[in-house]
Amino acid sequence: MNILVTGGLGFIGSHTVVELLSAGHTPIIVDNLVNSKLEVLNRIQKITGVRPAFTELDVADEAALDKVFEKQPIDAVIHFAGLKAVGESVGKPLEYYSNNLCSTLTLLRCMKKHGTKNLIFSSSATVYGVPPSLPIKEEFPLGETTNPYGTSKAMIERILTDFSKANPDFNIALLRYFNPIGAHASGELGEDPNGIPNNLMPYITQVAVGRRDHLTVFGDDYETPDGTCVRDYIHVVDLAIGHVMTLKKLMENPGLVIYNLGTGKGSSVFEVLAAFEKGTGVKIPYVVGPRRAGDLPFLYANCDKAYKELGYKATRTVEDACRDAYAFQKKNPNGIQ
Ligand code: NAD
Ligand code: UD1
Repeated sequence: MNILVTGGLGFIGSHTVVELLSAGHTPIIVDNLVNSKLEVLNRIQKITGVRPAFTELDVADEAALDKVFEKQPIDAVIHFAGLKAVGESVGKPLEYYSNNLCSTLTLLRCMKKHGTKNLIFSSSATVYGVPPSLPIKEEFPLGETTNPYGTSKAMIERILTDFSKANPDFNIALLRYFNPIGAHASGELGEDPNGIPNNLMPYITQVAVGRRDHLTVFGDDYETPDGTCVRDYIHVVDLAIGHVMTLKKLMENPGLVIYNLGTGKGSSVFEVLAAFEKGTGVKIPYVVGPRRAGDLPFLYANCDKAYKELGYKATRTVEDACRDAYAFQKKNPNGIQ
């Protein structure tokens, strides 16, 4: 199938393009390079032997996006394009709402105009807010979001739900990712955020290659087994495969569906550090600092629904992800240039 991948040169998008190609699909990438490099296209070609079609555009630019839809029939869209830095979103709410909402609205108008009726949207576990219990199930109510990034995801979920009611012939999957980490096993694709990383794994790999001297663990006095926060870390390749399996589901005309994509297993910050040492042989120096505002002690998914309805199960371990993320960072000490 021809699959339009918005944000397809980004961290999760690029890994998904590789999995789409290996499943026999034809990805068509659009990206405005606001948080990625054109070099990623060369890396995809190096891994797969195929150079996918790419257009540099802002998804909110309706005329430009319309041209892509006119060029060839599009069977489905995977919509990764969006701004995603939680901290930055607090200082730049207009940029976040404008980019994330307008791109989605424009995309929906183009899909409707051209009769493309299958859409996968990158949502986040952040939409659950403080969950009523654990593990987190899809039927839990949406919670309070605490930053414009998270609120933009919750708003887009609402928009897509309303759109789906008005357009029952559309098939839409809201995929709620837990914590994506890791990199492609080749070391060619991975994550390298701008500036000081907010997220745990890129911070650890930057310490491992000497770009930063130690990790600060945000609190060791939580009510968890070792006092550090527990998260559900999913290897980015497993996450990418989840999109390919969701596409198959959309072909059954399910209407609107929601899936958690995680592993169902929580790991603490100290457990991640131990897995990193085991997987790479590198011991990460750290200090324990204060808690970070907004962090919850436990967040992990119930993944039964994705297993039952998609046959989906993540198979890679946190140790695999640590090894792959480190290999990527070593090969690309300053990210993909
Ligand atoms: P990323 O920043 O690496 O990729 C997003 C891509 O979209 C980038 O290449 C960027 O240049 C592009 N982009 C942004 N706005 C655009 C626009 N208006 N038009 C065209 N291109 C645009 O992020 P990622 O980690 O790959 O995340 C992909 C999606 O998954 C995002 O929507 C993100 O919010 C969501 N998500 C990510 C995580 C995570 O931890 N990485 C967790 C939950 C959800
Ligand atoms: C964060 C965001 C979440 C977003 C997700 C993916 C917050 C509060 N949450 O999730 O909304 O969807 O990223 O982008 O920002 N940690 C350290 N030291 C560090 C970095 C992290 O100890 O330098 C700890 C954190 O306290 C947390 C765990 O590592 O317990 C994972 O952190 P992170 O990778 O930022 O993910 P989340 O906080 O789960």
